[in-house]
Amino acid sequence: METLKNICHQFQIEKTILNIEVLASGHINDSYLVSCSNDVNYVLQKINSQIFTNLNNIILNKVIVSSHLKKAYLEIGSKYQIAGFIKSKKDTFFIEAYKGCWTLMEYISNSKTIERAKNEKQVYEAGKLFGNFISKTSNLETEQIIETLPKFHSVPFRFFQFEKALNYASTSRKKEAQELIDLVFDLKSEMFQLSELKEKNTFPIRVTHNDAKLSNILFDQDDNGLAVIDLDTVMPGIVHFDFGDSIRSICSNTVEDSENLEQTTINLNYFEAYCKGFASETSNLLTTKEIDFLPLSVKTLIYIMGLRFLTDYLNNDVYYKTAFETHNLVRAKNQMALLKSAIKNYEEIKVITYRNFNLKNIS
Ligand SMILES: Nc1ncnc2c1ncn2[C@@H]1O[C@H](COP(=O)(O)OP(=O)(O)OP(=O)(O)O)[C@@H](O)[C@H]1O
Ligand SMILES: [Mg+2]
Repeated sequence: METLKNICHQFQIEKTILNIEVLASGHINDSYLVSCSNDVNYVLQKINSQIFTNLNNIILNKVIVSSHLKKAYLEIGSKYQIAGFIKSKKDTFFIEAYKGCWTLMEYISNSKTIERAKNEKQVYEAGKLFGNFISKTSNLETEQIIETLPKFHSVPFRFFQFEKALNYASTSRKKEAQELIDLVFDLKSEMFQLSELKEKNTFPIRVTHNDAKLSNILFDQDDNGLAVIDLDTVMPGIVHFDFGDSIRSICSNTVEDSENLEQTTINLNYFEAYCKGFASETSNLLTTKEIDFLPLSVKTLIYIMGLRFLTDYLNNDVYYKTAFETHNLVRAKNQMALLKSAIKNYEEIKVITYRNFNLKNIS
């Protein structure tokens, strides 16, 4: 507590610190709720410097995007909020202390996070909020935002990593994963498409969140979306990264490491709800080409995640934390089952997308 208090005192806060407690201890950040006098609260975060090596740029991205959104929300009197970052007494937005890199941001009160969606309203609200994020950052110059994790959603890059892992993998792990390996090769050319189109400048480069999952949204007590959080991976990208990853993570009927593959399908009601919310904020902004390829982004982002889990399994689990021997294989199988469901329901996915985004010319 004293250590954490000392860290907080290096930031420009005027109120007296009353209490500091753990808010969340995640894979990436350790987060603390700092309660001060006059009901002023902050979130103190220690960023994992092993995962992120270029912390300066990550924090710069976070500060630029959050202050841009804050201004935009204020101007239009938006119901949405964004946590602003507090400067340190040295006028920087982070401090280095106790072998870590620390930021302090505003705490969004009366909020909650939801791990898994329970109803369509929550999914609609998530779509609306992530759509709003895309639309309200669309006038921000992407040149200001640094690509802190290059090729993060590049399929050729992920495929290259996979092939490298395959070369060094043990015979037993390769054997266990053979069916998935075959599927990865079978789908390769279609799954490369989106990255190839991006390289050909088919789509506008936008500010994308790149970790657009449900738990990175704060809701109010009535399940209305309040704020997008966790801007660690904010980068220049294409809208498909966020749309596809949201569908992958929010609209599956099972959790990412469920072994119940029969149940691992796309929830089309949730898909419709997400589209409706996302489209309500972005359909006037997105180009026809962007909308046209939203359905493909669903398949592609699931493929990427399946590929990453499979790669880590072949690499003997060096990246993702695992709870048991075949955890990464189970995750990869789950994602590939979800991908098969997306393939099976692709026509419906297209119809729902184009209807919600008012696109007449279906490709
Ligand atoms: N500004 C805020 N106001 C209120 N609560 C917050 C705020 N920022 C973060 N939190 C809480 O802290 C938790 C962790 O925050 P965040 O998502 O930034 O960290 P993380 O470690 O990167 O998480 P993960 O790796 O699971 O995505 C959130 O789920 C939320 O409950
Ligand atoms: Mg998070």
